[in-house]
Amino acid sequence: MITNHNVLIIGGGLTGLRAAIQLFDSSLDVAIISKVHPLRSHSVAAQGGMNASLGNVPGEDGSVDNWKNHAFDTVKGSDYLADQDAVEKMCREAPKTVIELEHMGTVWSRLKNGKIAQRPFGGAGFPRTCYAADRTGHNALNTLFEQVNKRNIQIYSEFFVTSLIIDQGSCVGCTALDYLQGEVHGLSAKAVLMATGGFGRLFNKSTNALINTGDGQALALRAGVPLKDMEFVQFHPTTLYGTNILITEGARGEGGILLNQDGERFMKKYAPNSLDLAPRDVVARSIEEEVAQGQGFEGDYVHLDLRPLGAERINERLPGIKQISIDFSGVDPINESIPVQPGQHYSMGGIDVDIDGKTRISGLYAAGECSCVSVHGANRLGGNSLLETVVFGRLVADQIINNVNNIESPPKKLAQANIRKSEDHIKALIDREGGENQFEIKEKLNNTMSTKFGIFREKDTMLEGLNEIKKLQEKFSQVSIKNKDLKVNKALIRLLELEGMLLLAEVVALGAIKRKESRGSHTRTDYPERDDTKFLKHTLVTWEDENMQVSYLPVKLGMFEPKERVY
Ligand code: FUM
Repeated sequence: MITNHNVLIIGGGLTGLRAAIQLFDSSLDVAIISKVHPLRSHSVAAQGGMNASLGNVPGEDGSVDNWKNHAFDTVKGSDYLADQDAVEKMCREAPKTVIELEHMGTVWSRLKNGKIAQRPFGGAGFPRTCYAADRTGHNALNTLFEQVNKRNIQIYSEFFVTSLIIDQGSCVGCTALDYLQGEVHGLSAKAVLMATGGFGRLFNKSTNALINTGDGQALALRAGVPLKDMEFVQFHPTTLYGTNILITEGARGEGGILLNQDGERFMKKYAPNSLDLAPRDVVARSIEEEVAQGQGFEGDYVHLDLRPLGAERINERLPGIKQISIDFSGVDPINESIPVQPGQHYSMGGIDVDIDGKTRISGLYAAGECSCVSVHGANRLGGNSLLETVVFGRLVADQIINNVNNIESPPKKLAQANIRKSEDHIKALIDREGGENQFEIKEKLNNTMSTKFGIFREKDTMLEGLNEIKKLQEKFSQVSIKNKDLKVNKALIRLLELEGMLLLAEVVALGAIKRKESRGSHTRTDYPERDDTKFLKHTLVTWEDENMQVSYLPVKLGMFEPKERVY
């Protein structure tokens, strides 16, 4: 089947849905392609909230928040690697974005005076995070999904995109395996927006859904678009010990505290001013250090104590956290502390885009976690991710609206040729008889990434890690799968994901090895200082002739000069 639309959006999470609404409302024929049903997108798992300087809750000194404070916290939190023009755009747009979601139907938690409630979050100078209890992503995603349904926007659900169609340097659509029917389709369009989320499942302790395998980044890389700052991987300080389910930063925002095995509030040593609400890179490192010094429980985790909040506040503000702790850890946080440890949570890096969401291939755009615009730099502040999805989903859609009408619809034969290529590639994978097991390769990859490219990094172990990745890439060429059907073949989808993940792992490794400094989430024990002279720059990795090329791009400074970060 070949279909034609004005605009294709790859990804059915918050970014994709918000963009689709904007495009549809401009009378464009837009369709969404999603690997899973949109309500199963990882956006649904976001807990703590969305930052916006509404100023509904005053700061400690009674002052009122504004977008500049938000921008400053974001840039400082990013360890000065964020592009400040993009940060300014996001922070200025934030208040109206929260209100817009409210008007569409999002049920924000409220203050007693009826205004939208805001809670403190890590690295923020004001209580700035708007929330819907601890189910903010769930709330926002359902809102946007309802709006998409109201408009009858076409959704190709359970479609795995196998390639981008590039013609004379422009992106004119994609091919996708409809894995319920087992058929490869061609979808042509005048513009394609990537909104596919992160790649957390490269790591083995992650808050991410199993679907977060970086498919969009891999597609863009293969099409010739550089990936930017992929070495910056965020480890959330508090994931539930054992399963690594997210325990929202909102729990600390509401007053929860971290304790070591002596019952000591250890963040006093590491961040005397911000304590448990220092940015995530700082808190995650501190927990790792406590554990390394033998101050953790069972040598592996610390405690998050919510008891100071009391039952009423926990039940009202953190009902999801309470239930997760009971169901997955047997701990009721009203009476006991929650066992937590850091886990991979977010990818600051992604598809290289300019401030308008344009990639270097005309007609190809990217927004949200799969992209790097870059508003998060070397470390994202909690609450800025949901914000980025909705702000840039809308703004990038506006760019597409401005550009798309001057473009002719691509000829069908292009899609036909690309369908054949994808079918051949899938057939070759299915026909392989090498005997290697894909799930063993995936497990080894996860272990390599977590042990060699985790919170603390250094040259020799990273070089070992890169070597292991190369070996796994070799093994991949010998993988065979038992199920040879095309229809509902989940093993095939896992295999296609793994193919991309092995490429992305190499990108992360190269960026990390070459960045000889410590900045934000990238902490090198052999280069413990930030080095602005040599590394105040973005890493770009391009895949050319099946080889990775590393280059650099200046950071856009502006409002705030780089300073030492003190928390
Ligand atoms: O901790 C959290 O609720 C996560 C929020 C975020 O990643 O922005």
